[in-house]
Amino acid sequence: MKTTLLLILGIVVFGCTIKSKQEFVSLPSNYYAESYRPQYHFTPDSMWMNDPNGMVYYDGEYHLFYQYYPDSTVWGPMHWGHAISTDMLHWEHQPVALYPDEYGYIFSGSAVVDWKNTSGLGKDGQPPLIAIFTYHEPEGEKAGEIDYQTQGIAYSNDKGRTWTKYDEPVLKNPGIRDFRDPKVSWYPEGQKWIMTLAVKDHISFYSSPDLKSWKHESDFGTDVGGHGGVWECPDLFKMTDQNGTEKWVLLVSINPGGPNGGSVTQYFIGEFDGSQFKNENPSADPIWFDWGKDNYAGVTWSDIPEEDGRRLFIGWMSNWQYANVVPTQKWRSAMTLPRELSLVSTDGTYQVFGKPATEVESILNKEDMFKMQEVEVNNDVTLLFDGQVGGGAWAASLFMDASESEVIKLKLLNALNEEAVVTFDLAENKVHFNRDNAGKKDFSPEFAVPIVGDCSFNNKVELKVQVYWDESSIELFVNDGQFQMTNLVFPNKDWNQIELEAKGKVKIMEATYAPINSVWGN
Ligand code: FRU
Repeated sequence: MKTTLLLILGIVVFGCTIKSKQEFVSLPSNYYAESYRPQYHFTPDSMWMNDPNGMVYYDGEYHLFYQYYPDSTVWGPMHWGHAISTDMLHWEHQPVALYPDEYGYIFSGSAVVDWKNTSGLGKDGQPPLIAIFTYHEPEGEKAGEIDYQTQGIAYSNDKGRTWTKYDEPVLKNPGIRDFRDPKVSWYPEGQKWIMTLAVKDHISFYSSPDLKSWKHESDFGTDVGGHGGVWECPDLFKMTDQNGTEKWVLLVSINPGGPNGGSVTQYFIGEFDGSQFKNENPSADPIWFDWGKDNYAGVTWSDIPEEDGRRLFIGWMSNWQYANVVPTQKWRSAMTLPRELSLVSTDGTYQVFGKPATEVESILNKEDMFKMQEVEVNNDVTLLFDGQVGGGAWAASLFMDASESEVIKLKLLNALNEEAVVTFDLAENKVHFNRDNAGKKDFSPEFAVPIVGDCSFNNKVELKVQVYWDESSIELFVNDGQFQMTNLVFPNKDWNQIELEAKGKVKIMEATYAPINSVWGN
């Protein structure tokens, strides 16, 4: 008996020692298998998460920090949770990076590599990583004060593994209640750092030589864009369009005030000279980044190497209208897919496109991929993919000739007759999303409302639609990211059918369905 036990033990120990470090970690078989748990989107292991924070790339690693409350599945005293990835899809959870302290909770912010060690916080010739965040002092808020939000910094000398807060806040509050979410980037032309800060109903730009002392440069935005709510979580970056023209893009999230209710992200395009942002959008109307209800507080990665050159985005896949009550148990909220942004000009008008980062392609299960070609749907309904749609997570793409069609509906259906419906109204240039009969919705009256977005099809012959389904979210991309729509859905059973219904004639040139396996190691 003893010998057998020893033998088994020996095999187990030997078996383990020859495994790589990664395989060593044994995950329980039910890891990330709760209902509605995304299989290829980032979610915290447990508890509450909101905005992505401190997204920085350094030494082959993407860092994702996030607004985190480790003691509950609803919002509370904010910490910065942390995860690291080499492809923005497979994440390794890290210990909490920043805890609340005497200056307050740790609200949203950004992180940079201080390549020139302007802060003097580097060590052993290595550049420090610097996180710049908002301190939110709850006692001051309760006491009715107005200056309880300030900006602080923290630094890391070990590739982001541990963080030390720098003495005291580096930017005091000038007497404005909403003063937060600093996004910092290096402005090489002026050899200085620029902080883009959300201040109630506008953006304030600050500059600094060393990330510690900050000077106010200018304000932007009180009279343009969406103002149905408070401005939050901005980002400022330069992009080049398909003709080589450079423009600056300013992302600003607002809550509430979204076109479909609640939280939303808008953007501006123009010039930035190191001091002022000049908006060049001829209309004062807001331009929405994503027309769905569930893509908020998204920002882009800092320090992506020049040879890569991409502008990579992640947003928080929820909405403050119901984020605290969505029907998940162990954890709350997921991030969007990593998306690659591009600047596209059409007849002098600029638009930011967003589509899944190329890495996403690598997690499609190619072996079980299903393809169909040359199918015509004429005032009719067709079951797509020969009924091959299975439970779990998947991606589908459709490439269609829609020149003779007025309305196309894409329906996800399950055995309970629940359905999530996307309607492409080609005549009206609108995309509708209906989740009224798509499963759980009673947790909030704001959830199952009609959702609609503007999408200029312009009588285009070709229509490319990509859908990413992941247990409780649908990300929709039209024409390579010209139109983005992100929505949560909580069906009571897995989708097992996808249907396409056409008013008029539509020709599906090619349609692909691919299951997506879990990236969480089970
Ligand atoms: C946006 C936001 C930020 C703030 C954080 C607090 O969702 O309200 O403005 O820093 O969340 O968690």
